[in-house]
Amino acid sequence: MNNQESFDVVELIEDIFERRGADSYLGEDVTMSQHMLQAAYHAEQAHAEDIVVAAALLHDIGHYTNEFPEDYLEQGTDNFHEEAGARVLRPWFPERLTDCVRYHVPAKRYLCAVRSNYYASLSEASKQSLELQGGPMNTQEVNSFKANPYLDDIVQVRIWDDLAKCPSTVTPDFAHYKPVLQKLVSLD
Ligand SMILES: [Fe+2]
Repeated sequence: MNNQESFDVVELIEDIFERRGADSYLGEDVTMSQHMLQAAYHAEQAHAEDIVVAAALLHDIGHYTNEFPEDYLEQGTDNFHEEAGARVLRPWFPERLTDCVRYHVPAKRYLCAVRSNYYASLSEASKQSLELQGGPMNTQEVNSFKANPYLDDIVQVRIWDDLAKCPSTVTPDFAHYKPVLQKLVSLD
């Protein structure tokens, strides 16, 4: 990938958290940075591996793909933030992380199909968006989703995503997670 050495993606992500973090998270009582930091915090509390903590932190970065340099984006950007997020991260981060980002919306459709009490646990906004996202998966979709080697991580990130909507949850700030991202970038 061009210009990778001269471009510090972690600095860009930090900048996005600082400048755009106060954006509202539509339909929820937390800001975007609170939401993403809370997802990472829940992952950390569950003793998840660093790569999965980082996936939780970055799962909604696809709302900010316009912040990434244009030459890293393919033509025809769509509105699917999960796919867009995975695409802009993939040049720097391992597939295990980007699959958690890419599939965090399908994971909601999956969990609605396979866990009877899951739908009731969703926020109202999340219940409403489910229909636009295709509703619960059918059997064929469930079976193909289960074939993903990172299924457990993807499901966990989704569950932390759902939990990360509480205005009273106190989390570390971005600086706490920055070294984790830096380590993952240098590993890939
Ligand atoms: Fe989210």
